[in-house]
Amino acid sequence: MKYIRVEMKDHIATITIDRQDALNAMNLKVISELKEAFESCIEDLQVGVIILTGAGEKAFIAGADIKAMQKMKPSEALKFGKSGQNLTRIIENSSKPVIAAVNGFALGGGCEISLACHIRIAGENARFAQPEVRLGIIPGWGGTQRLPRLVGKGKAIEMITRGEMTDANTALQIGLVNYVVPQAELTEKSQEIAYSILKNGPEAIRTSLACIHKGYDMALDEGLELEVQAFSNLFTTDEATEGLTAFVEKRKPDFRS
Ligand code: CAA
Repeated sequence: MKYIRVEMKDHIATITIDRQDALNAMNLKVISELKEAFESCIEDLQVGVIILTGAGEKAFIAGADIKAMQKMKPSEALKFGKSGQNLTRIIENSSKPVIAAVNGFALGGGCEISLACHIRIAGENARFAQPEVRLGIIPGWGGTQRLPRLVGKGKAIEMITRGEMTDANTALQIGLVNYVVPQAELTEKSQEIAYSILKNGPEAIRTSLACIHKGYDMALDEGLELEVQAFSNLFTTDEATEGLTAFVEKRKPDFRS
């Protein structure tokens, strides 16, 4: 792959977008390589957690490739928008938790890709924005839909209509990110969270993510029914036997051998 690197260590797959001369901006090739990387990590039984980051000190992803969009006809923009949205669905529906380690600019499509991840950790230098209206367009990879769901309608409307950058500490205050850490500690913090997830049952994690995502747009009673069915189904698994027995036997569970 030209723009994407995947490194594996202790069940953690780190996917890095490396197109530094364009601040990791995403054209169709980057989208397609990222899709391939995610699909293969999600399928790989050795992978328990995925970390997504950008190469270099400056940018996570500076957005969709503006130079590519400049020449697009509406039909091409539709295809481009759908490719980006399709990628966000793959990330969001991943059965493995996806952590965005936001190491700089997360703008436009870059902010939207981070919104599709399950946990966001920002370096102190991170800057978030949906600046599309400044270009005479709107967010096209889920920003108008996921941002209000995450930070509330009022904050999302302000971010999307003003297009201004939000710094890391403000992002923390409004619930856009889970943690802010010094830039030098971003990898360590992301890995610390990944390791804490890896101690837990993979099937239970997969089921939790599915219930949260499927249930989010359901009526409460429907979501509760989804949850209780999934809860009872887990009692058929070796994983639940191991987890419950380990507690009773006063030992740590071993979910991954
Ligand atoms: N697309 C294409 N190229 C980009 C880019 C983008 N989104 N962002 C940065 N670049 C390129 C620049 O054109 C420049 O390349 P050249 O040297 O070949 O001209 C290189 O990256 C470095 O950028 P700058 O010189 O501009 O760096 P800077 O430090 O002065 O500014 C910045 C950094 C504030 C991030 C600025 O580059 C910028 O504003 N970028 C655009 C951000 C943006 O508007 N993103 C949203 C895109 S729209 C979108 O994403 C739609 C969607 O919802 C799907």
